[in-house]
Amino acid sequence: MRFDQDFIEKVRESNNLIDIISRYTQLKGAGNRHTGLCPFPNHNEKTPSFSVSEGQQLYHCFGCKKSGNIFHFVQEMQGLSFVESVEYLAQKASIPMPVQEEQSPQLTKYKNSLNSSWKLIERSADYYFQNLQKLPESHPAKQYCRKRNLTDEVINEFKIGFAHDQWDGLLNFLNKIKAPQSVGQNLGLLKKRKSGDGLYDQYRNRLMFPIITQTEKYVGFGGRVLDDSLPKYINSAESSVFKKSQIFYGLNQSAKYIRTKGYAIVVEGYMDFLALYAKGVRNVVATLGTALTPQHAKLIGRYTSKLIILFDGDKAGQAAAQKSLKVLLEAQLLPRSVILPDNMDPDDFIAQKGADEFQRVIAASEDLFLIVMQDKLKNFKGAATEKVAVMEELAPLMRSVKHLGLKELYLRELSDRLQVTEDWLLKMINASGKNEKPSLQEPKNTDVTDKPVVKRKLLSLAKAPKHELYLINMALKSTEYFDKIIEQGVIEQISDQNLLEVFKRAEQVYRQSPEEFDKLTALLVTQIDQPTYLSAHLAEPLSTMDNAGSLRLIDDCVKKIRKQSLKAQTLQLLKELKQDSSKKEKLEQIMNIQKGKLNL
Ligand code: GTP
Ligand code: MN
Repeated sequence: MRFDQDFIEKVRESNNLIDIISRYTQLKGAGNRHTGLCPFPNHNEKTPSFSVSEGQQLYHCFGCKKSGNIFHFVQEMQGLSFVESVEYLAQKASIPMPVQEEQSPQLTKYKNSLNSSWKLIERSADYYFQNLQKLPESHPAKQYCRKRNLTDEVINEFKIGFAHDQWDGLLNFLNKIKAPQSVGQNLGLLKKRKSGDGLYDQYRNRLMFPIITQTEKYVGFGGRVLDDSLPKYINSAESSVFKKSQIFYGLNQSAKYIRTKGYAIVVEGYMDFLALYAKGVRNVVATLGTALTPQHAKLIGRYTSKLIILFDGDKAGQAAAQKSLKVLLEAQLLPRSVILPDNMDPDDFIAQKGADEFQRVIAASEDLFLIVMQDKLKNFKGAATEKVAVMEELAPLMRSVKHLGLKELYLRELSDRLQVTEDWLLKMINASGKNEKPSLQEPKNTDVTDKPVVKRKLLSLAKAPKHELYLINMALKSTEYFDKIIEQGVIEQISDQNLLEVFKRAEQVYRQSPEEFDKLTALLVTQIDQPTYLSAHLAEPLSTMDNAGSLRLIDDCVKKIRKQSLKAQTLQLLKELKQDSSKKEKLEQIMNIQKGKLNL
C-alpha cells in the first residue's frame, strides 16, 4: 500500500503528538515546550531530557538523541511499520483508507469485507461491554469479575463484556444497527438454527474478552463460562480476520510496556494475562492457548528479542514451552523461562503470592534452552548410550540456535554436563541434521500435538563382505581387540561404506567413553537394518573362540581388508590410466603400491 502525500498529511494533522506521547510519559509545560522523562525503553532516565513541540508536532530527546514526528513515534514505540503507523493513526482519527488506483476490484472487495468484519466485531464488543456495565453488582457475572480480580480499570481497558443468557441478544443488537447478519454469521458470532430459518447467538451467558490487534483492530472474542461447565472458553472461529496462530491477546495495550521494559512475558491464557496486568505487571502477552508459532515469533520480535515464557507449571504447559523453544531460537529470539511451583498458572501464582514475589520469580528465570537441557538430563547417569540419546534430542535444537555467541555457550555447557568434547557435540549435531527435514518457516498446521515425523535412516549391512563383518564383531568382543584394530589403522580401508560408517560411530563412542564399552553393541544395533550383523560375536563360533584363535582371525581379516583395498586402488588407477595422458605418474604410483604389498 502506498499513500499519497496529501493523505499522509491529513492523517498527521488529525492526530496530536502530545496526546499520543502522553500515553507513555507524563509531559509538563505548554506550547512549543512540553518536557518529560524519555519514554523510550533503552533510555532509563531520572531527569527529563525529552521535549515535544506541539506547534511543530515534533519530539526530541537530548539524552538518547531520538527525534521525529508522530509516525516515527508510533513506529518506534509500538513496533509498527510506516504503513501500519499511517493505518493506525488514520483509524484513530476515523479517516477512511484511500482506494488505490491500481487496486483490483477483488482486492477492494476483500479489503471492504475485512473492514466490515472489524467494524462488526468492534460494535459487538461495545454491545457486550455495555451489557456488563449495566448489570447490578449482585449479578453472577459481576461477582465472577470480582472473584477473578478483574478491576474496573482492567474491564475498561480491555473492553471486557457480558453475553446475556438469551438466544437473540446480539442478533437483535446487530439488526438494530443494521449490521449485515451474513458477516456476523461468517465470523461465528451468529449461528444458523437447525430447524427452520433464522439465526441465534453463539455466545450466551459468558464473560466476553474481545481480541484486539496491536493496530487496534477487533478480530474476535474469547467467551468464558461463569462456572466449571464445558467448554470453558469458546474462541472465535478461524476466519480471514481471526488467525489464532498470529495473535497475541493484550498486545494492543501491552506493547508500550514491552518497549519500555525491554522484555516480554509470554503466558498462555486471557486470565493469566489480565491477572498480571491488574497487579501492575504489564509487559505481558498471551497466546490463545497454543504453542508459539513462527508468526508469533516474528510479531513479538518487532518489540523485543527478550522473552520470558511463563506457561502453566503442569505437564502440558511445560511441553508447550519446550515446543516453542525451537521456533523462538530460529527467530533469533532469546527465550528464558521459569517453572512455577505446584502446577500453578501465573494467575494462581500472583493471586496467592503477590506481585513482589512474582517479580522475584521472573528475576530468577533461566535460559529456556538450559531448562530443556536439564529436563533431558533428568535421569542421566553418564552412559555413552545416554549421551547419544540426549544429543539426538538436543541436536535439532542446537541447530536452531542462530546466535553464534549463544551457540558457543550452550556447546560449552553441554560438553561440561555430558563430559564429551565440543568436537563430538558438533559431529552429533551435524550428523543428525542430515536426516532432518528442513523446518517449515510458516507451518500450515500449528496444532500443539502436531509433531514432524523424522524418519531415521537405518544403515544396511547386507552387502558388507564377511571378513569385514568378522572384524567389527571382533572389535565389539573386547576392548583389547578393539584397541588392537584401531592401532592397525585399518578402519579407513573398509570397503563397505555403511559398515565404515558404523565402525566410525563405534570408534567415536568408544573413544569418548571406553568404560561404557559393554553397551556399545546395543547402541549400534539400533542404527542398522539387522541386529545379527553386529551381534555375531555373542554367538558361536566367535563367542567361544580362544584368545590365540581370535588374534589370528583379526590378523587374517586385517590382511584381507588391506589387500582388497590395494587391489581396489590399483584397479581405479588402471582405469584412470586408460583415460589419462599423464601415464608415467600413475605407473609410478602403481609401483609404489606393489612395493607396499610385498612388505605385508
Ligand atoms: P481460567 O480457567 O479462566 O483461569 O483460564 P486460563 O486463562 O488459565 O486458561 P487455561 O490455562 O485453562 O487455557 C489457556 C487458554 O487456552 C485460554 O485462555 C483459552 O484461549 C484456551 N482455552 C482453554 N480452554 C479452552 C476451551 O475449552 N476451548 C477453547 N477453544 N480454548 C480454550
Ligand atoms: Mn487460570
